[in-house]
Amino acid sequence: MIGRKISHRPFIAYRPIGPSDLGILQQLHADLFPIRYEPEFFHNVVNRREIISWGAVDRSRPGAQSDDLIGFVTIKIVLARESEITDLVKCDSTQSDQTLVYILTLGVVEAYRKFGIASALIREVTRYAKTIPTCRAAYLHVISYNTPAIYLYKKMSFTCVRRLYGFYLIEGQHYDAYLFVYYVNGGRSPCSPLELVIGAVKYVRTSLNSVASRLWRYDEKKPWRWTKYRESCGFMTPSQSKRNLVNEGSSEFQCVSCINRRYTSPYNSSSIERCGAANM
Ligand SMILES: CC(C)(COP(=O)(O)OP(=O)(O)OC[C@H]1O[C@@H](n2cnc3c(N)ncnc32)[C@H](O)[C@@H]1OP(=O)(O)O)[C@@H](O)C(=O)NCCC(=O)NCCS
Repeated sequence: MIGRKISHRPFIAYRPIGPSDLGILQQLHADLFPIRYEPEFFHNVVNRREIISWGAVDRSRPGAQSDDLIGFVTIKIVLARESEITDLVKCDSTQSDQTLVYILTLGVVEAYRKFGIASALIREVTRYAKTIPTCRAAYLHVISYNTPAIYLYKKMSFTCVRRLYGFYLIEGQHYDAYLFVYYVNGGRSPCSPLELVIGAVKYVRTSLNSVASRLWRYDEKKPWRWTKYRESCGFMTPSQSKRNLVNEGSSEFQCVSCINRRYTSPYNSSSIERCGAANM
């Protein structure tokens, strides 16, 4: 596979992945991920059986190479009620057919990185998700040390909603995963229990602030006491809802819950045991 950074100006095009991509797709997955995928996975991708995909190619490359994959994203549609984020999606009890887009794998050949290719592939996914009336969100897992991918999802407005302890088991070693979600079609859950707790804490803080500022005005002789207190407390403006309160604070991930769970993916083979989905 292409290792060095390309020297020419690429002309990137995006297209569905088909049977002629089988070999390259397998090679790219072997090169980019620490886990092995079952042949069935690749056959399902190229034959578009339950898996939808987009590939990136560089049309400026010579000859047949101009159609060789240099990036890809694979997704699957799952039922919201059967997914692990059913509690995070706004539920409409009249609609049992609500769906989610699950991002299985995403990768870009090293030489073509930082050209915005992964961003464009993610955009294809979110655009596609929005066109499905029953779809409420796109989501994925990412291994906790994959900083480029974490930055990418944050940049693409995905929200980190969970940390899953020991989610991945790779060669006998456990790794945590972050679960990122991108809501579409009004799929944002009104409030998770943790959001409610955070909201309540903020509410108590605001009330204390309000009492403090009243006392401050009342007891002008001892301002230092309250100055200290005021500095340590945040104010909640009327426009802040419980929902956006959970998104402030840490400039790092906006995790709202942490869970210790493992899942089995039908596509991962022996080198990753009892572990989660494909995206690393
Ligand atoms: C993660 C990956 C898909 C990014 O692909 P890419 O085409 O280089 O990504 P983009 O050019 O669209 O980058 C978009 C944003 O991602 C983030 N990003 C990408 N590479 C980064 C890096 N090496 N370090 C930090 N942030 C990075 C940045 O926020 C970047 O925005 P910026 O260019 O404005 O800084 C690519 O590095 C890759 O294939 N890695 C191996 C496979 C993998 O980890 N897949 C993800 C599984 S969850």
